[in-house]
Amino acid sequence: MTVDLRSDTVTRPSPEMLQAMFSAEVGDDVLGDDPNCNALEAEAAALTGKEAALFTPSGTMANQIAIRCWTQPGDEIILESDAHPYHYEAAGAAVISGVQTRLVQGERGLLDPETLFAAIRPYNIHFAQAALVLVENTANRGGGTVYPQEVLQQIGDGCHERGLRVHMDGARVMNAVVASGKSLAEVVAPVDSVSICLSKGLGAPVGSILAGPKDMIFRARKVRKMLGGGMRQAGYIAAAGRYALQHNVARLADDHRRARELAAGLNGLGLGTRPVETNMVYVKIPGAEAAAERLNAAGVLCFALSDDAIRLVTHLDVDDAGIARAVQVFGEIVG
Ligand SMILES: Cc1ncc(COP(=O)(O)O)c(C=O)c1O
Repeated sequence: MTVDLRSDTVTRPSPEMLQAMFSAEVGDDVLGDDPNCNALEAEAAALTGKEAALFTPSGTMANQIAIRCWTQPGDEIILESDAHPYHYEAAGAAVISGVQTRLVQGERGLLDPETLFAAIRPYNIHFAQAALVLVENTANRGGGTVYPQEVLQQIGDGCHERGLRVHMDGARVMNAVVASGKSLAEVVAPVDSVSICLSKGLGAPVGSILAGPKDMIFRARKVRKMLGGGMRQAGYIAAAGRYALQHNVARLADDHRRARELAAGLNGLGLGTRPVETNMVYVKIPGAEAAAERLNAAGVLCFALSDDAIRLVTHLDVDDAGIARAVQVFGEIVG
């Protein structure tokens, strides 16, 4: 039995989702007449409480389009030091938008408002002009952590007072929604734009959403085209995204419960874990690379994210038996 805990990106479409894709009516989305893309974008705008939304091929592209829309070349963007666009987006912000990245140390991937505001420099001809702050909710390298809503509100208000925009990398914002019990619109209200991955815990094969004000999404549509992200009969994958939003949000609570159970099982073996807030378990293991290799060989697929930490992610395709098996294999290999 293989248990794939590498990421929630590994989920495959269920038979019901495939049926929704198979029966999708499609058009040419670059020409604006794909009914499923149009419906997905309207539904995503309504769910986020933003004026408009855009379907993109990936979360990376959605983040990069947002950076491009909110900045001018030579501006500065500010991110927490563990943020995805800094670590894993191939310097896209520098290449696509010509901006300078400033990192601010937060805690468990979350920015502290006072530390952030102290990093925002006033206008000066010597300085890169800070234009955009990115917040990640949930924070991946932070351990799947959720921003307390009052902190997000403080960040949003403080940035707006200083003339900056705020973009949320909400690849896993639905996990934050389910963990907090708040609506998506409430969670994203303090930020100007949000990207949301449909292909992680929500189980769609491809695609993300970028939501924000109408004029920003109008510009975003052109940037998407520039980056080669205009897709033709994309309704087949938009149909999967619509299915995911309708059927796979509430069940994220199961992934969170299984992550807590997995952590408890590993704690029972004497292994330390970071507090579990959503669907990620970070296990402390000296020699994490070698341990991950042994776990992978035994059928528990995972990644070492540093010398002493392995990340395990629960998702749609991991059931209770998978969690029990993972704990058993950890016990045999590293316990
Ligand atoms: C926090 C976060 N943002 C953005 C992305 C990028 O998503 P994609 O792989 O669809 O480009 C990921 C993917 O793992 C992520 O974890």
